Amino acid sequence: MFILVTGGAGFIGSHTCVELLNAGYELIVIDNFLNSKPESLHRVQELTGKSFKFYQVDMLEEVQMERVFLENRIDAVIHFAGLKAVGESVSNPLLYYKNNLMSTFILCQLMQKYNIKHLVFSSSATVYGLPESVPISEDFHLKALNPYGRTKLIIEQVLQDLYSSDPEWSISLLRYFNPIGAHESGLIGEDPQNIPNNLMPYITQVAAGKLHELEVFGSCYPTVDGTGVRDYIHVVDLAIGHLMALEKTFKSSGVHAYNLGTGQGYSVLELVSAFESVTGVRIPYRITNPRSGDAAICYADSTKAWKELGWKAKKGIEEMCADSWRWQYNNPDGYINKVKGPHITNEEEFLVQK
Ligand code: UD1
Repeated sequence: MFILVTGGAGFIGSHTCVELLNAGYELIVIDNFLNSKPESLHRVQELTGKSFKFYQVDMLEEVQMERVFLENRIDAVIHFAGLKAVGESVSNPLLYYKNNLMSTFILCQLMQKYNIKHLVFSSSATVYGLPESVPISEDFHLKALNPYGRTKLIIEQVLQDLYSSDPEWSISLLRYFNPIGAHESGLIGEDPQNIPNNLMPYITQVAAGKLHELEVFGSCYPTVDGTGVRDYIHVVDLAIGHLMALEKTFKSSGVHAYNLGTGQGYSVLELVSAFESVTGVRIPYRITNPRSGDAAICYADSTKAWKELGWKAKKGIEEMCADSWRWQYNNPDGYINKVKGPHITNEEEFLVQK
């Protein structure tokens, strides 16, 4: 089976490529390296000992995108590519609407033209907005609170319409909770380009001495210790969820949304404390004002993914902390200073030959 992976060099994309290659799938990976580095794909190769085809393509470039479809047999698509910083989406909404929506439209048009109707889409728990209760199940009311979230929600709706127009489509919408951790090898992980927006990469950079202290956004939420509660999920569990959703798309048609979370919530201070006890590194922190738009408590009911995909998260908070730290410790500057072999800059050089 040949799978097209968009955004395959990113955090979740690269971990999913590892699982797909290990499971015997053939990959065609595309990425524009806007928020990722070629080195992550070298590491995927190193980890799996498998080769795959790569195109450095901006998904908004229709002609280049069509070339990928013309030159390859593709059985299904896993679509990760997209911009994902909430704050940036508020200050530059048009960038988010253009990039995330147009790229998906171009992708789906090409899939339709080349009769490829199996799609796994990278959605987010952000589509639940501020949930009225927890745990959150897939039938909860959907509401986006910012342009980034709205792009995810609009795409989910577009994909529903696509299926309504043609019942041969088979689409999984994967609503991720809070992905953290890294591959246990320490070779691939999350590599934020600037100061991290999300909690775990911020913690690991404080631990590494790159950032001075953690700011804890609010301590008056109605939670165990007043700090926000989230459902942190190990990125390898998440990657495996994509494999299982992909298999499901080959078995039946329809549009199905799945929550990928552990079902267990941890507060900010509980995560800090787990990180400190697993790694032995102290994390200095300071309580500041709550971040606008943050929910107090958010965790998943992932029963549907278990019943319909046979998927359940297996890795606990200790493994998440240990693996996040191993990645940060082994790669203090992310992928930047660890390039092995020739630095690959263009597609022709990068194309991995079998
Ligand atoms: C954020 C996004 C969400 C996106 C997800 C992707 C916002 C409002 N939400 O989710 O749309 O899908 O990332 O991973 O940005 N925290 C701190 N200090 C920090 C960073 C975070 O205290 O420096 C707290 C937050 O208030 C929250 C928890 O840590 O309670 C987790 O935050 P974060 O990692 O940013 O994830 P979300 O806000 O859940």
